[in-house]
Amino acid sequence: MDSLGPKAEWRFRERKLGLFSCLRREQGVSTVVEVGMGTAPNLKHYAKDVDRIIGVDPNMAMHQYARKAAEAAGAAAKLQLVTGTAEALPLEDASADAVVMTHVLCSVRDQQQALAEVRRVLRPGGKLLFLEHVAAPEGEVLHAVQRALNPVVGFVGHGCSATRCTLAAIERAGFASLDADSFKVSFWGPAAVIAPHIVGCAVK
Ligand SMILES: C[S@@+](CC[C@H](N)C(=O)[O-])C[C@H]1O[C@@H](n2cnc3c(N)ncnc32)[C@H](O)[C@@H]1O
Repeated sequence: MDSLGPKAEWRFRERKLGLFSCLRREQGVSTVVEVGMGTAPNLKHYAKDVDRIIGVDPNMAMHQYARKAAEAAGAAAKLQLVTGTAEALPLEDASADAVVMTHVLCSVRDQQQALAEVRRVLRPGGKLLFLEHVAAPEGEVLHAVQRALNPVVGFVGHGCSATRCTLAAIERAGFASLDADSFKVSFWGPAAVIAPHIVGCAVK
């Protein structure tokens, strides 16, 4: 991920700049929890503007890359890394001003449980910021292709699924408000199977 990530990351730059523009201490955002932080490609977009970042990931091998990304963003002292899953966040109730999830809800075992946990750790008025690849609409050829290739996606992507209806899961999660946009990423070749995306913000 550390070597392949940057090759795809530029495609999300503008979306992420918009999405993370609310992560500012002047806007009441001090503590950010990033679930499934991975190699931490998002830190460069917001780390300097908040006070405390808690990165949660079940894969401890990611931590060294996340630390490196935090150092590059000049935010090493703000980052606390925790081993854990989205479905059982090892964090206190109402302890986060914002939660960030990018390309994670495709991999969690139980989306509804993960989103319930996100709501639990957010303070009232806190925001979930998400950017995720999702299932193509039923009836589209790509939807059938995603279903056929999903075992391969799961193998290559360590449990990732191309057929998740993530927006519906977020809608069901009981947030007070939800603002989301759908878009397609210009991936070529096999990566086109994860072209459909959603981006948005849910408020507790
Ligand atoms: C495709 S990577 C995305 C990493 C990063 N968020 C990004 O945008 O590049 C998926 C990450 O989710 C983590 N992950 C997988 N299952 C998870 C779970 N149940 N809870 C939290 N994180 C999980 C993986 O270890 C991996 O770091």
